Amino acid sequence: MIFRQLFDYQSWTYTYLIASKKGGEAIIIDPVLDRVDRYIQLLDELDLKLVKALDTHVHADHITGLGALRDRTHCVTVMSEKSAVDVVSMRVEDGDIIDAEGISIKTLYTPGHTDDSVCYLWEDKVFTGDTLFIRGSGRTDFQHGNPGDQYDSIFNKLLTLPDDTLVYPGHDYKGDTVSTIGEERAHNPRLQVASRDEYIEQMNNLHLDNPKMMDVAVPANLSIGLSQDEIEELGWSYSPADADRLSGSDDHLLIDLRDTGERKHHGIIHGAIHAPYADLEENVRPGGMLFELARSGDKTLVFYCAYGERSAMAVRAAKDEGIENAAHLKGGIDAWKNAGCALEQLG
Ligand SMILES: [Fe+2]
Repeated sequence: MIFRQLFDYQSWTYTYLIASKKGGEAIIIDPVLDRVDRYIQLLDELDLKLVKALDTHVHADHITGLGALRDRTHCVTVMSEKSAVDVVSMRVEDGDIIDAEGISIKTLYTPGHTDDSVCYLWEDKVFTGDTLFIRGSGRTDFQHGNPGDQYDSIFNKLLTLPDDTLVYPGHDYKGDTVSTIGEERAHNPRLQVASRDEYIEQMNNLHLDNPKMMDVAVPANLSIGLSQDEIEELGWSYSPADADRLSGSDDHLLIDLRDTGERKHHGIIHGAIHAPYADLEENVRPGGMLFELARSGDKTLVFYCAYGERSAMAVRAAKDEGIENAAHLKGGIDAWKNAGCALEQLG
């Protein structure tokens, strides 16, 4: 197992890199834009393939590295279902599992610091973002924060984890690196309250200044999506209505790039085949399943995913391998649903 805790000293942010083995797939949590070169170097040195980049919430104190990492490594970007960002590749809600080779991370929806805050539980470690700090908790006075929600998230969710669960926060301003659930229950001064109301009262009287970066970071962090316009201008993009019409034809094949969990959760398009984004490189190269399907059947491959990010990257990858007839469903299943097109439940 590989587990690294990385620090951005400008915003006091912790970023976490996880992989099951050297040479395997990796997941990064809360990357900072200014540190992206360092992450890429470390990934290279450890021979890791970054497959997913996760944020715990829309940050106000630094610019996220999600967009840059997606552009440089073609990884999938993951945020909460509630995050008001323009586009990410995948959205998760309470209980959703985020997979990579040998890694399974559970999403805990923990609003309070912001309305989109989540924590990520991986084996005996919980990455608490700005919901719970070591001997502190994230402020609740902006970005739709709510101290009552935070009380519920901490007391009814995080503190129900086993006492020896390791707590890895999104920041620390004192030099601490890790704690445990039991230690925080006993020694976190914010948690020594007799009631929810007392917690709310305490949080409403912190009177903190806004973060220095807030006016820059929040707008930047809300627009991290991959532009799908360029692909559209090249004529490699289908609207839901186009894709719906062509999906039944012999010369088009819809390819679902999403993970199994997303397919179960949101449904699938009738007749589409499943070729997960994680296997894309292998599938589109000569000899790969999609390469051979496109060539032998003289078919146009129409990729789709949740929001159109993975599919836009897949079109590029397919073209790079010489698959001429490749396009994607702009806006993904989200646009498909909004257009009123039919979805089937995965049995
Ligand atoms: Fe935050």
